[in-house]
Amino acid sequence: ELHPVRALLKGAVAPGAQVTVRGWLRSKRDSKAGISFLAVHDGSCFDPIQAVVPNTLANYEDEVLALGTGAAVIVTGELVESRGKGQTVEIQAGAVEVVGPVLDPEHYPVAKKRHSFEYLRTQAHLRPRTNTFGAITRVRHTLANAIHSFFHERGFYWVNTPIITGSDCEGAGELFRVSTLDFANLPRRADGSVDFAEDFFAGEAFLTVSGQLEVESFCLAMSKVYTFGPTFRAENSNTSRHLAEFWMVEPEIAFADLDDNAELAEALLRHVFRRVLEECEDDMAFFQQRIDDTVLARLQAVIDNRFERMDYGEAIRILEGCGENFEFPVRWGLDLASEHERYLCEKHVGRPVVIANYPKGIKAFYMRLNDDGETVAAMDVLAPGIGEIIGGSQREERLEVLEARMDATLKEELWWYRDLRRYGTVPHAGFGLGFERLLNYVTGMENVRDAIPFPRTPGNAHF
Ligand code: 4AD
Ligand code: MG
Repeated sequence: ELHPVRALLKGAVAPGAQVTVRGWLRSKRDSKAGISFLAVHDGSCFDPIQAVVPNTLANYEDEVLALGTGAAVIVTGELVESRGKGQTVEIQAGAVEVVGPVLDPEHYPVAKKRHSFEYLRTQAHLRPRTNTFGAITRVRHTLANAIHSFFHERGFYWVNTPIITGSDCEGAGELFRVSTLDFANLPRRADGSVDFAEDFFAGEAFLTVSGQLEVESFCLAMSKVYTFGPTFRAENSNTSRHLAEFWMVEPEIAFADLDDNAELAEALLRHVFRRVLEECEDDMAFFQQRIDDTVLARLQAVIDNRFERMDYGEAIRILEGCGENFEFPVRWGLDLASEHERYLCEKHVGRPVVIANYPKGIKAFYMRLNDDGETVAAMDVLAPGIGEIIGGSQREERLEVLEARMDATLKEELWWYRDLRRYGTVPHAGFGLGFERLLNYVTGMENVRDAIPFPRTPGNAHF
């Protein structure tokens, strides 16, 4: 009977049963005594299962001995208790069917040895076969599932906001244009500028940087909603925290303020960390042992403690007085750089911290102006090892105040967004959680390029 490797290793089948597994060879060892040991993985769990193959099998000489790491096989045999250490059961193989051999074993790109993560990025099609990327894939899946169930249990609706959009939510000008024009023969006006008249969307379409504006309109009808999908930013930064294509979770709640928003962020993180600890025990044990020995403690710290909260003003005072030699200046009115964010959560607090009420000059137009007229009801959640993991705000629900922060072009483009303040406006708030940064926080992996199946970064749209 066919079984996932996980079921066998987790004791779902009693020794003595005839079992079949299908998968890929992680490694093979041939003993002088005429026995081969195959480690077979199928993606279902961290450890491969060992198949013990005797030289009495008809295809032993020709096929089993020739098997290389990466080959696809079907192994059938008796499940037996294992005498080797590190595994409880193994398969005493009665048959090994080679489904897909490895054509040039000496060149298999992800042969069993320690590869650098930089190298594995160049083998993005094969890195899922490594134990690290298998673990990342399962944890990513579990996190996504936990996010959906968190919202579902609390009465939120998942809204699929558009990927192609006309608006620049964050106003940072980091848009990828979507165009059907032939770049080799761009239609030009007399002055040399590109004539977008022939374009499918008349040059007015971009890949979304955030689903927030659109999800707000559903929030003001459905009360509690979220969007969770890919977002795109043409920011030319080669850092370990930035991708050109990343996934974002964006809840939006009506009749809510910044405090409600921070509560929601905290509850969400606590829920998903619990789920990961429960459901990905083996994978998390691997990350703890091999990648970062603080991951389990830091997830538990979020589960057990309230987030620290402080105002931006207080954060500036702390940074000014801490005696640290920062590369970038610290002054009220300036944005926090990653080094400042990390100082606050790593050295000052030691856990995630919510910074609230930033100067209006450094934040987006849609954030609600506070009574002081100088700050907006914005919040960032900063996490040790990462820096900003969540950015959010209470939204400006007052039409005139909102319009005062929009220029003429923006007002015209976002006529519908202004409409929402004209017809039944209510205080509302939301945030964006970067999914790859979340995954890095959970696994201890250092680079967001290793938290997404196929990373897209400047100069790299393929591998
Ligand atoms: O702070 P950001 O830009 O906020 C927004 O987009 C809001 N519209 C969200 C909202 O209120 N609904 O981005 C939110 C989060 C960041 O905190 C970060 O975790 C992640 O998205 N992020 C990125 N992750 C990977 N690569 C990038 N280039 C990212 N830019 C932002
Ligand atoms: Mg932000």
